[in-house]
Amino acid sequence: MSNVNADRRVEGDWWKDPIPPNVHFGTGFFCESAQVFKMFKSRHPRAMVLGDHVSIYAGCSFPLGENATCTMGDFTLVNGAFIMAEERIEIGSHCLISWNVGIADCDFHPLDAAARRLDATAVAPFFKDRPPRPKLEAAPVVIGDNVWIGMNAVVLKGVTIGANSVIAAGAVVTKNFDANSLVAGNPARLVRSL
Ligand SMILES: CC(C)(COP(=O)(O)OP(=O)(O)OC[C@H]1O[C@@H](n2cnc3c(N)ncnc32)[C@H](O)[C@@H]1OP(=O)(O)O)[C@@H](O)C(=O)NCCC(=O)NCCS
Repeated sequence: MSNVNADRRVEGDWWKDPIPPNVHFGTGFFCESAQVFKMFKSRHPRAMVLGDHVSIYAGCSFPLGENATCTMGDFTLVNGAFIMAEERIEIGSHCLISWNVGIADCDFHPLDAAARRLDATAVAPFFKDRPPRPKLEAAPVVIGDNVWIGMNAVVLKGVTIGANSVIAAGAVVTKNFDANSLVAGNPARLVRSL
């Protein structure tokens, strides 16, 4: 059972487009609106692979670059989160990802001032001399099973979070944490092991 019809449109959705064909989902998939895929640009044949009983609520956004992938395990729930990938974001099973969480495997703009100035012209939709965007390094993000990420938390490139961990509201996670960690703050630190 699912609220996604055979034509990949969400039942009663106001958004007219179907869920992209390279988003694969299991049984019991709940998607509140296909609008969550508005920024989705991946052409990878298995761009998103979602397990059984995954729930995706409105307000989420999945800006996945041309070759990017994102996986989520069974019973993972994502509510109003931004999942931004140029390469790969892996999210385990039974994860709870709250309002306004940001997860990114890339910084998306260069640190160098001149290159960033050029990048600003590259992303201006109506600028006729748009240069190509600089190629930036990405580093996969891996989130283990049964991780709870509180509202407004941010998980940055290259981070691995071990299973059963809890990321407190507003944490900015810049480095890896072992399984069963309670993590909080900016930059995020271990509060205690659970
Ligand atoms: C992660 C959380 C559940 C932990 O709760 P808890 O175990 O009761 O934590 P405590 O209140 O005992 O705090 C432990 C320590 O972490 C700190 N801390 C807790 N949450 C924090 C946060 N969000 N940011 C920074 N520090 C935090 C506390 O100040 C305390 O520090 P201290 O030991 O120096 O006094 C809770 O703090 C939290 O962030 N809840 C929000 C969950 C959420 O976003 N829900 C939305 C729906 S999914």
